[in-house]
Amino acid sequence: MAFADMDVDTIWMDGDFVDWEDAQVHVLTHALHYGTGVFEGVRCYDTEKGPAIFRWEEHLDRLYDSGKPYNLEIDHTREELTEATLELIRRQDLESCYIRPLVYFGYNSLGVSPKECPTKTMIACWPWGAYLGDDALENGVDVMVSSWRKHASSQIPTNAKATGPYINSLLAGEEARSNGYMEAIVLNKEGNVAEGPGENIFLVKDGTLHTPGLAQSILDGITRKTVIELAEERGYEVNDEAVISRSELYTADELFFTGTAAEVTPIKTVDDNEIGEGTRGPITEELQSAFFDLVERRTDDHDEWFTYVDEQ
Ligand SMILES: Cc1ncc(COP(=O)(O)O)c(C=O)c1O
Repeated sequence: MAFADMDVDTIWMDGDFVDWEDAQVHVLTHALHYGTGVFEGVRCYDTEKGPAIFRWEEHLDRLYDSGKPYNLEIDHTREELTEATLELIRRQDLESCYIRPLVYFGYNSLGVSPKECPTKTMIACWPWGAYLGDDALENGVDVMVSSWRKHASSQIPTNAKATGPYINSLLAGEEARSNGYMEAIVLNKEGNVAEGPGENIFLVKDGTLHTPGLAQSILDGITRKTVIELAEERGYEVNDEAVISRSELYTADELFFTGTAAEVTPIKTVDDNEIGEGTRGPITEELQSAFFDLVERRTDDHDEWFTYVDEQ
């Protein structure tokens, strides 16, 4: 049996390569009840030099950091997690894939305190195309400002990628989809723009890029950092500590999302208001092409951001 009819059959669980159907957990697993896990979403791209994982080291940094507020200590080294991931990709002959490492409190006691619970780690890889669809990358998405606010980092750490808090993303995303939109924009507690449910956001106005800073309750996105660098290298000014009001969304020249899953996705409307010309804007297009040239290795730039699966 494989996942969603895909030809992938192995999961790595705490040191072992396990058949897909045997990769099970107990129903009294702590993380299942209280959302006590931390995870990553990473992409491996099909390049001329074989599969290459994009910014693996930065994703590992964030994974280990995400555990800190929860005293969730990962009892595998970076080298073990790296080797396990490379081996999963090789064994399953994946040319490109999404990689999902998850570290969570396992089965032992069900008090809210996880102290007695073991720390468990798993990694899975599977093929995953454009998150919001191929059409979205070219023509952009229709989004709505969610009625759900993003929690503040004084309530739940926002720069830690923990599983439980994604219930907030789920509420915002499902609200948008049930209202006929592709995705949501979530405001923070103060009512300023935070991010998407699984994406950071950029606003272009008069040739300058603006993206909310970490104090706006966002995840410190790795694609966000990448796009900031790509934009600066191309001579754009980037305000990466921006405070963006809701109304500035509607008067933006261009808006786009960034994320491992969403890559660089233009936003064509917000609450049915056209952004710019209501199509992918020129700066979005330039940065999107730069991003895909980079990750598909049509340039030699930033080779240090890639972990090649096959020996080079
Ligand atoms: C809430 C949220 N914001 C932003 C991002 C984008 O982060 P990254 O570019 O590291 O995938 C994600 C995706 O992980 C996310 O879930």
